[in-house]
Amino acid sequence: MNRMLLCPPDFYEVRYEINPWMSVAQAPDHAVAVRQWQGLYDTLQDMGCKVELLMPRPGWPDMVFTANAGVVRERRVLLSNFRHEERAGESPWHAQWFEEQDYEISRLPRHLAFEGEGDALKCGDVWICGHGFRTDEEAHRWVGDWTHEPMVSVRLVDSHFYHLDTCFCPLRDGLAMWYPAAFDAIGQDAIRAISRELIEVTLDEARRFACNAIISDSHVVMPDGCPKASAMLEGRDYAVHPLPMSEFIKAGGACKCLALVLE
Ligand code: ARG
Repeated sequence: MNRMLLCPPDFYEVRYEINPWMSVAQAPDHAVAVRQWQGLYDTLQDMGCKVELLMPRPGWPDMVFTANAGVVRERRVLLSNFRHEERAGESPWHAQWFEEQDYEISRLPRHLAFEGEGDALKCGDVWICGHGFRTDEEAHRWVGDWTHEPMVSVRLVDSHFYHLDTCFCPLRDGLAMWYPAAFDAIGQDAIRAISRELIEVTLDEARRFACNAIISDSHVVMPDGCPKASAMLEGRDYAVHPLPMSEFIKAGGACKCLALVLE
């Protein structure tokens, strides 16, 4: 079972727009967001995951989306360089948490944007890294060097799927779930070549963040409203836990964005 880092939604709100899902005119309902986040926390605990908490800080409303803090391998972390000023101030708090936990911290050069697990996911033995919106293509080489593992870069082409984890989800043994139209043709070919089997998500379910799922052993925690993807996962012996995520989708995130995998 995994260890995950979550950040309570105390200061969560939509007060700027840095992706097409966000509209300052469409405020998330705070009480509902708190309930949805608690539902995720409880589900992960019930599955046996160890959940660590990052203290939320006022002024950083997207801090709930811990997947963007960096990428973690054992006791090492490669910290993010956020593309947007609106999120850059989260990094010192991420660094502080990892320092306190005795992690070895690495950073990319300041000029390279990199948004952590949002754009870097391991599929089988290969890291898949997304670029096009938040992470610079040049940053991928740093991820490959830091992990010492094979890495493949793919270009994201649909701004609604601006992070890799919004359109791609590695499962076990080279099986993955994805929304292919979010990638350019070369990226699609690369993902097909790496994966043993791909579960394709429909546009409707992709827009309900079906791919933004947390995998732990044979459990999948994903947003509700994705019956087709759920059925395909259940057909491959996964236990699916569908959760309401409406208030986080208003900021362009769902289950996976709310959790950083620590090990
Ligand atoms: N509002 C946040 C942003 O635009 C959402 C982040 C979602 N995170 C993710 N890993 N896809 O940065």
